[in-house]
Amino acid sequence: MRVNVEVNGEQRTEDNVWEGESLLSLLRDRLGLPGAKNACEQGECGSCTVYLDGVPVCACLVAAGQAEGRSVRTVEGLADGDALHPVQQAFVEAGAVQCGFCTPGLLVATHDLLSRVSHPSDGEIREALAGNLCRCTGYEHILDAVRLAATRGGGRRDQEWRSPDRAGRPGAGAPRDTGDPECER
Ligand code: FES
Ligand code: FES
Repeated sequence: MRVNVEVNGEQRTEDNVWEGESLLSLLRDRLGLPGAKNACEQGECGSCTVYLDGVPVCACLVAAGQAEGRSVRTVEGLADGDALHPVQQAFVEAGAVQCGFCTPGLLVATHDLLSRVSHPSDGEIREALAGNLCRCTGYEHILDAVRLAATRGGGRRDQEWRSPDRAGRPGAGAPRDTGDPECER
């Protein structure tokens, strides 16, 4: 089947997509966007997190066909050309990146949190990132990175980008309606 999807602001069309193919496969294997990682392919780790119409989802659990006519934003779409997004820069400066496998998902989840709650508490940060597993860092540096990004207005720049139904959503860590109960996002 053919899939038409806007990815990071660019309209993309891909033919011969298999009905069972995931959005993650479409992004990584067909569209040349390897930022979202495939660590578990079961909705458990959050490393494949991308925005779908402004809502973070596990791309491994979304069928590529479900993205037809919709908008996807990946970790690659957070940066402004060569300039890192403040959230990305904070992760680098706080030493929150080791092997980096979890990092793209954490960046999207942090970006999502800070665009809803500009100065989250530690509890709100932990809850918002609970669906993102990291095997390397012990999480302390990740928490430092989120705090640092918050002090720099890490979510402010993209507020206008958010879909209207998400823009006013109250509270951090509220259950995410991804339409897929298996997804930890
Ligand atoms: S690859 Fe682990 S949640 Fe998708
Ligand atoms: S930095 Fe290696 S899994 Fe998080």
